[in-house]
Amino acid sequence: MGYTLTERILRDHLVDGKYEPGSEIGIRIDQTLTQDATGTMAYLQFESMGLEGIATELSVSYVDHNTIQVGFENADDHRYLQSVAERYGIYFSRPGNGICHQVHLERFGRPGKTLLGSDSHTPTGGGLGMIAIGAGGLDVAVAMGGGPYYLTAPKVMEVHLTGELQPWVTPKDVILKVLQILTTKGNIGWVCEYTGDGVAGLTVPDRATITNMGAETGVTTSIFPSDEQTRRFLAAQGRAEHWVPLAPDRDATYDKSIEIDLSELEPLVAAPHSPGNVIPLSRVVGTPVDQVLVGSCTNSSYTDMMTVASMVKGKHLPPNVSFGVAPGSRQVLRMMARSGALDDLIAFGARILESACGFCIGNSMSPGTDAVSIRTSNRNFKGRSGTPSANVYLTSPVVAAAAAIKGEFVDPADLKMEFPRVEMPDRFEIDDSMIIPPKPAAERARVEIFRGPNIGEPPRNTPMPGSIKGIVAIKVEDNITTDHIMPAGSRLKYRSNVPKYSTFVFEPLDPEFSRRAAELRDKGLHNFIVAGVSYGQGSSREHAAMCPMYLGVKAVVAKSIERIHAANLVNFGILPLYFVRESDYDIIEQGMSMTIPDIRNALESGESQVKAIAGDREIPLRMELSRRQREILLAGGLLPYTVRSR
Ligand code: F3S
Repeated sequence: MGYTLTERILRDHLVDGKYEPGSEIGIRIDQTLTQDATGTMAYLQFESMGLEGIATELSVSYVDHNTIQVGFENADDHRYLQSVAERYGIYFSRPGNGICHQVHLERFGRPGKTLLGSDSHTPTGGGLGMIAIGAGGLDVAVAMGGGPYYLTAPKVMEVHLTGELQPWVTPKDVILKVLQILTTKGNIGWVCEYTGDGVAGLTVPDRATITNMGAETGVTTSIFPSDEQTRRFLAAQGRAEHWVPLAPDRDATYDKSIEIDLSELEPLVAAPHSPGNVIPLSRVVGTPVDQVLVGSCTNSSYTDMMTVASMVKGKHLPPNVSFGVAPGSRQVLRMMARSGALDDLIAFGARILESACGFCIGNSMSPGTDAVSIRTSNRNFKGRSGTPSANVYLTSPVVAAAAAIKGEFVDPADLKMEFPRVEMPDRFEIDDSMIIPPKPAAERARVEIFRGPNIGEPPRNTPMPGSIKGIVAIKVEDNITTDHIMPAGSRLKYRSNVPKYSTFVFEPLDPEFSRRAAELRDKGLHNFIVAGVSYGQGSSREHAAMCPMYLGVKAVVAKSIERIHAANLVNFGILPLYFVRESDYDIIEQGMSMTIPDIRNALESGESQVKAIAGDREIPLRMELSRRQREILLAGGLLPYTVRSR
């Protein structure tokens, strides 16, 4: 029986375990990427492993999340990141050079390689035929040090594309369709592999939009084959030698298949407040809009930007709409400037934002109270924009541009303009002068690492106690995102100062939580978090595990927990537990005392079920842990486990 492309690449990189769906495997990681929001802590953790340098083929440190300077903290963190990169042999992509996923695709990604990134949209690299996975910063730190990355051998879902996209229907509509079919739940442990005749008509940036937002379904990653389009893209980036052809075996069998006829697709929209809330554009036509933002790692390629510029050329922005454009990289921005497209956008009334995450993470252009905001990004969780009352819709760039022109949702086909067919260029503008390459090995040891006053030590947990005894410090509902657990925006500048950042845990839901949890911890009690379905969805932000750990949380008891977050909990020594009977969720109340007796013994002996005593009730709970994860939990997290086992 033949292999899927996913299985072939994973088998080529297998270093530990047996490749069987459902079992844990360790793979070799060829490349890593970090961004500043997660990277600062990842490098602090890497440093504490005491290694001389990285062991990957290449690692890149990007600064794209917190580039806006208010106070010294961000600037200091950037200096820290640059000096760490110099010290350990890491490429450093300076602020202003672009969003990590866009730049990585342009300058570093290679078909057939494995990429681990401390950002949940790392699967963008799947557009180039990579196995590109998002993980917590600590996992990335371990991979940089040459340690395997452990994951459950995935089941592979074929997404079979036929036909051809019609005018005004774009790759964004393909991934919105996939989200409509798969939803944001129930896809943990799967990889989406794109096949079929429809694939050939999609360029690498088109594919990257699809694999990027595939993260919203909860799959481990998504991947396209490496074909003529891949060769064309790499050649246009001056990297033709990095191309290798890759495809699934002819007789590959998939665990599941879905069919999408591209010719039949219509423009789609993700309505507030979930990327999975997908509806046809026609349902919202006529709705007035207050703000339109084009950019983010999902839709900020050269083609996206040139298409939008061409649509708005010669027109003027309606007075009630504000319009922001954030090109994905300096490469894209320079090409826009040279071609005159930048001028067309400015003439239309666009506010040109830095090539960075900016608005996507709530760092700029927050909408007004109750405003309707259309964005080309990948997430529209309540409050992510910085304005909890705003209604954020996710669309393709052409739908966004049409709304900016009209001041309301409109089907772009009704604008009576020709569909701008922007071709991918044969040669991109190549200028890597904002990427600082690694120093020669002999010079690295002399590099002094810069540490501003905002840089703290990475906190460490203590080994798992014999029993967990404490209080349900908070009970939360379904679909709690990492933005709820650990707010970003203006708080993100404290990312490398855990005691300070920990004062904001669950701030959007319960501003008293941090104080309460710290008090309980200081009394020697363990804290529990109780949650509903899909706890920890949204991002790879490991602070959403690290800061609760700092506040004395020892276990999260939930109906379900998202993949990256569950792994992060284990990495920080917090036990993820699942209700055997979902109805038991209703029995538990915030403030209740709770005990999990003999947990060390249960972890050591490989039990798959434990009981919690909550008040006077006994509640059975499931543990879904590999042997290695049990050892990590016993040691108190991945850092003490890794340092001890070296
Ligand atoms: Fe940045 Fe938003 Fe992507 S925060 S990495 S542009 S999802």
